Amino acid sequence: MIMSNTSKYTVIPLLVNGQSHDVMVRSADTLLHTLREQIGLTGAKHACGNGDCGACTVLVDGKPMHSCLMLAVEAVSEEITTIEGLKHSEMRQAFVEQWAIQCGYCTPGFILNCHALVKEHPDADDEKIEEWLQSNLCRCTGYYEIKQAVKFVLEMNKKNG
Ligand code: FES
Ligand code: FES
Repeated sequence: MIMSNTSKYTVIPLLVNGQSHDVMVRSADTLLHTLREQIGLTGAKHACGNGDCGACTVLVDGKPMHSCLMLAVEAVSEEITTIEGLKHSEMRQAFVEQWAIQCGYCTPGFILNCHALVKEHPDADDEKIEEWLQSNLCRCTGYYEIKQAVKFVLEMNKKNG
């Protein structure tokens, strides 16, 4: 819900990692810009800025979204999750244990996308993993280890029922 406005800026509430933030945005401000510059959550990265690389991935109501392509005003009433909200997730731990990190620039986006993948497709096979991860690029080409991290969590979830 929009709370107040001036000629250029509007104050909107955003729910991020379970916390509500009132932020001042211009109509063209992206969610990525707002998360980084207004809320100080810098885990989502700016890279291509046009939807090609996935470095800016966040979850919007549990679904992966390139936050460079979403306006902040479109995120009102949505539940946003950033990498800062997945500090204790199994997927984050699996990335560490499987050495799925090199320079780390793509890593927050990949972890969020992989987290959503195992939730949505608990029986994902190689083909599904391959298809799902096409939205994210790793310039260090750590794809093998990233897929191993996904498989590790899928297996662990199956064992734990
Ligand atoms: S920075 Fe958003 S997809 Fe590349
Ligand atoms: S770890 Fe460097 S871009 Fe992926």
